[in-house]
Amino acid sequence: MSGPPPRRSVLYVPGSNARALAKARTLTADALILDLEDAVAPEAKPAARERVCAALREGGFGPREIAVRINALDTEWGEADLAEACAAAPDAILIPKVDSARTVGAVAERIGAAAPEGVRLWSMLETPLGVLNAREIAAASPLQNVWVVGTQDLARALGCRTAEGREPLQTVLGLCLLAARAFGLALLDGVYGAIRDAEGFRAECREARDLGFDGKTLIHPSQIDDCNALFAPSDEDLARARRTVAAFERAREEGRGVAVLDGRMIENLHVESARRTLARAETLDARAREMRAE
Ligand code: COA
Ligand code: MG
Repeated sequence: MSGPPPRRSVLYVPGSNARALAKARTLTADALILDLEDAVAPEAKPAARERVCAALREGGFGPREIAVRINALDTEWGEADLAEACAAAPDAILIPKVDSARTVGAVAERIGAAAPEGVRLWSMLETPLGVLNAREIAAASPLQNVWVVGTQDLARALGCRTAEGREPLQTVLGLCLLAARAFGLALLDGVYGAIRDAEGFRAECREARDLGFDGKTLIHPSQIDDCNALFAPSDEDLARARRTVAAFERAREEGRGVAVLDGRMIENLHVESARRTLARAETLDARAREMRAE
């Protein structure tokens, strides 16, 4: 596989919900976040932790990347969540409400000491302070490779209204994107809560995709297919990528460093991104075949 694994659709699965944990193994989400935090009621947290760790040991998640979202370390559940998640060795441990590099450093140290090699760290940026400290947080640990922007918590903390669209969140989304890209992190958008509003959901996916996000976090299985399609190159994107590569190769054969396609200049950077688009489509095709073969 070339490039990072696909993370178009990343579904939260409440750790307390056995049926959802079973069903998640059959869904076409690229990745799953087995949640011990906000999706789980306080009295259900210890049982959810056991259930999630048992599910990880059982396996059966196929090619889906698996993250466990722990409770923050300053809560009564955080320490046990982290210790047991390290032992159960998911692909990643997701820390909620990260607002300083110190938090990332502390969890990274614990993962390094207690988890098998290869367990990565994901962070949620969902507080104003977290977004203000984005640069330091992004640089805090080489174990960190993915960020999730908690747009709902941020909207609430900022006091902004998003019912008519996310214009009020553009500064936050842009700052997260800048820091994530500067330090090579993948970036996932927050959830869309209105699970029956497919049109609104698709509009938000397109917005996140066009801003540069890698994918979106989801709360319901009905959101997966649209999300996978919208964060994948379209047939039009692929056709254009092939024509871009061909036009540039022709120009090179003729000794020119730039080409013109449909009245637009094509130079090396366009060819590189066209090649990335084609490689990504291959990765996604391979993933779809793996899912079908399950
Ligand atoms: N992951 C896996 N399976 C899920 C799921 C999820 N997030 N959400 C629903 N399902 C399953 C249900 O278990 C049900 O399975 P079944 O066909 O085997 O019975 C099926 O999908 C249909 O579910 P539905 O009845 O439409 O939804 P619901 O009313 O049971 O649940 C929610 C709706 C919103 C409560 C539920 O989707 C959910 O808990 N989502 C995650 C919330 C969360 O994690 N929040 C924290 C992060 S913001
Ligand atoms: Mg949150």
